[in-house]
Amino acid sequence: MPKLLIRNARIVNPDGSVIEGDLLCQNGVVERIAPHITTPADETIDAGENLLLPGVIDPQVHFREPGREHKEDLGSGSRAAVKGGVTSFLEMPNTDPPTTTQHALDDKLRRAAEKCVAHYGFFIGATPDNLDEINQAKPACGIKIFMGASTGSLLVDKAEDLERIFANGNRLIAVHAEDEQRIRTRRERFKNRIDVAAHSEIRDNQSALMATKLALSLSRKYRRRLHILHLSTREEVELLRRDKPDWVTAEAIPNHLFLNITDYADLGTLAQMNPPIRSANDNAALWQGLHEGTIDFVATDHAPHTLEEKRTPYPDSPAGMPGVETSLPLMLTEAKAGRVTLAEIQKWMCSGPAEAYGIHNKGKVIEGWDADLTIVGMKHAKPVKNEEMFTKVRWSPFHGRILVGWPVYTVVGGQVAFDNGKIREGVHGRPLAFN
Ligand code: DOR
Repeated sequence: MPKLLIRNARIVNPDGSVIEGDLLCQNGVVERIAPHITTPADETIDAGENLLLPGVIDPQVHFREPGREHKEDLGSGSRAAVKGGVTSFLEMPNTDPPTTTQHALDDKLRRAAEKCVAHYGFFIGATPDNLDEINQAKPACGIKIFMGASTGSLLVDKAEDLERIFANGNRLIAVHAEDEQRIRTRRERFKNRIDVAAHSEIRDNQSALMATKLALSLSRKYRRRLHILHLSTREEVELLRRDKPDWVTAEAIPNHLFLNITDYADLGTLAQMNPPIRSANDNAALWQGLHEGTIDFVATDHAPHTLEEKRTPYPDSPAGMPGVETSLPLMLTEAKAGRVTLAEIQKWMCSGPAEAYGIHNKGKVIEGWDADLTIVGMKHAKPVKNEEMFTKVRWSPFHGRILVGWPVYTVVGGQVAFDNGKIREGVHGRPLAFN
């Protein structure tokens, strides 16, 4: 494999401190970090004093393949990922067919090996009757349970089915925590509302809290490794602050951190997602939860639907927004404003997900660790533009926001995958291992 020398970088250490220097990558790993490296390399890139971070690990994306490739596929999703500085992703099972068997998982892995420019891992989806599959299918980063129905057909909402899944096996269970029964009752109650703001009232804070409480109690009862996906409410943060066993983790996503119900006025159904966007008060609680460590890390829940689909009048509009190429610039813009630190970003977006999912040698810029890196420009601010998005659906809920921290280069396994606005041909991600 060619040697890559990165010169003149401001390298972010795991503790958030920054050192100036060069970095040599060989055989897919960071071989050396030093003030000046003179070793000849096959390729040398000048980082131009830009910031060099570990590649982001996005632990929740929906790349739609197989079955809904008009919205995204593993190739386009992974190209959007590296454009956003994401070098590894974990993909959700609500495809068509859903990833609920070893056969479906093998099929995704085969497709990913052909097309992905970033490293990849997949969840196995739980149904009421695939207990053996979810515990045995390999390699899987975890079991995904939709406790409330969302895009796709996956749903496990009966208490006895949930209990059986938590009681058997020891693999990580990641939950989409919304209470299906409460949502159904409230949908009926709000059936005359056709404005999208009703979405946040139907799937209210209580719906999320009830499901999170149930998942937590089952996790405690069976001491089962639990991850709570896209935590969205103040109530859930407060619950976890009081009662979070050390085998439980939780994540937040930019949509719930940077958007709230006032954004329905401009974005309409574009801002519709599950769990829904909430109030400014919930935004603040999520930020606090992240700073204090109640929330462990950040995912995007990149969930693309075409603009045409999204513009269908509510309630027939689909839920979900793309996000994989804006999450790092959104966070780095917060860092530039002094509201978060580089150490926090590194922990929330790189080392945190790696540790939670047992992904070794990724998430930190350290000699001997994998050369998955992103080099971002912190000086020049630039607006998010729909027409510049790499995602197939070519829109972003953050269109028009002025951000810094856009990747200039992204390196996957020691090879430049994204170079000044363009994808390089011939770079392939690898399947992730989870230990
Ligand atoms: O809004 C959402 N969209 N939430 C989910 O849980 C699924 C996702 C999708 O796949 O579209």
